[in-house]
Amino acid sequence: MGRRSWKRQPSPGATVAGIFIPHLCHHPEFKPQGSCKLCTVKANGRYVSACTMPAKDGMEVENNSPDLNDKRRTLLQMLFVEGNHFCPSCEKSGNCLLQALAYELEMLTPHFTQFYPDRPVDASHPEVLLDFNRCILCELCVRASRDVDRKNVFALSGRGIGKHLIVNAESGRLADTGFSLADKAAHVCPVGVILEKRQGFLQPIGCRRYDLQPIGMQVGLMQVGRPPATGSSEQGS
Ligand code: SF4
Ligand code: FES
Repeated sequence: MGRRSWKRQPSPGATVAGIFIPHLCHHPEFKPQGSCKLCTVKANGRYVSACTMPAKDGMEVENNSPDLNDKRRTLLQMLFVEGNHFCPSCEKSGNCLLQALAYELEMLTPHFTQFYPDRPVDASHPEVLLDFNRCILCELCVRASRDVDRKNVFALSGRGIGKHLIVNAESGRLADTGFSLADKAAHVCPVGVILEKRQGFLQPIGCRRYDLQPIGMQVGLMQVGRPPATGSSEQGS
């Protein structure tokens, strides 16, 4: 068991009682959907997704073991090779949940062969840029646009490894939807897909959210009443 290992009463969410559980598709403001599997824990000896598993009295949960973290690292490596995550040139670097988890779980190499997707960037909208090559299919934007903004701007299309994010417009362009920077969906992407234009490198590298405090530590700070470092990412952690 590692430094934040625990065996305790059950946990209904991805962060509980000051214990950080790695997660990507979970956001405290949205109904869990359990697709990324980063939050896999062992509950009473069985692998389950912490974000969707209801807590039960007496349930023993293991969150931080070499076995669980090996599996999580493999999931991260798969996500990294499926997209074009060239962090040194990405304006989300330092504010990115995927990158922060890779640091937290000490992912040193991508391990698998790169897919190098080639999906055209959508720069049609006056305020927001979409780089589909970084999408991890968490569906947070889909859920935000559907359930909060009531606009259904985003959807997933295709099957298996061909599954990808689309914009719900006949043209497929964001500019031809009712999308606005004021929408919830504009601020939930945990990685560098949905980006506000002209903001890219205003916050210098080295001063960004996860540059200042590693991801697991932020949960601990909130528990003792200290605010976590702020960054441009509004995605909950
Ligand atoms: S664009 Fe961002 S929020 Fe939407 S599914 Fe892809 S990674 Fe998730
Ligand atoms: S955070 Fe639980 S499956 Fe993604």
